[in-house]
Amino acid sequence: MSHRTIQVDEVLHDWLLANSLRDTPHHSELREQTASLPDSGMQTSPEQSQFLHFLARSIQARTAIEIGVYTGASAMAIASALPGDGRLVACDISDEHLETARMAWQAAGVDARIESRIGPALGTLETLLQEPGAGEYDFMYIDADKENSLNYYEHGLKLLRPGGIITIDNMFRGGRVADPSCDDASTVATRELAQFLLKDERIDYSLVPIGDGLALARLA
Ligand SMILES: C[S@@+](CC[C@H](N)C(=O)[O-])C[C@H]1O[C@@H](n2cnc3c(N)ncnc32)[C@H](O)[C@@H]1O
Repeated sequence: MSHRTIQVDEVLHDWLLANSLRDTPHHSELREQTASLPDSGMQTSPEQSQFLHFLARSIQARTAIEIGVYTGASAMAIASALPGDGRLVACDISDEHLETARMAWQAAGVDARIESRIGPALGTLETLLQEPGAGEYDFMYIDADKENSLNYYEHGLKLLRPGGIITIDNMFRGGRVADPSCDDASTVATRELAQFLLKDERIDYSLVPIGDGLALARLA
């Protein structure tokens, strides 16, 4: 029993991975490939990707939206939770790493479920609102430019069905949210988002200390 969340140091983190990660060769190969990139720290952690898979599966998600694809790790985890005819709309402003992502999705057998949309995600979400399926999506993962997370969330509230789940990454900003001397735009926006979510009565809410802090919003 513990009355507060305990700290996860390197040793405990290694144990966590060794004893809970249901890794596949496709996920580990993509991690290895991504590790050589200068911005590899952007990749969603394996335990968080598995948690996203778990969440999407637990609500029997058929359709999902991801904002921030990079080399495709979290998209692969979410898409593999969907049924064979499911659909993940994967949004990124850049196609720099799309080929890497596509090859990994193909190897994992989920590429047919993933539809890439390249461009600023706000524009893509506006387009999705005009298309069939708006209001019926089941699941959303937000992991892109932090200044826009609240805007993505508001679009998610319109795009998802009641009971759908919106997840938002990097709520801790590596701990900077709790350090008042940190006033970079992304951290300030994340603090404001945290306060907003806390008070938003349209959702059931929890902030889970996995990875860099994952916000969970369930649409009422
Ligand atoms: C943290 S990475 C995403 C990591 C990914 N979820 C994974 O598991 O590997 C953030 C991504 O957001 C994208 N991004 C940044 N600003 C964006 C915007 N305005 N619209 C869409 N994507 C954006 C970046 O190009 C980058 O690929």
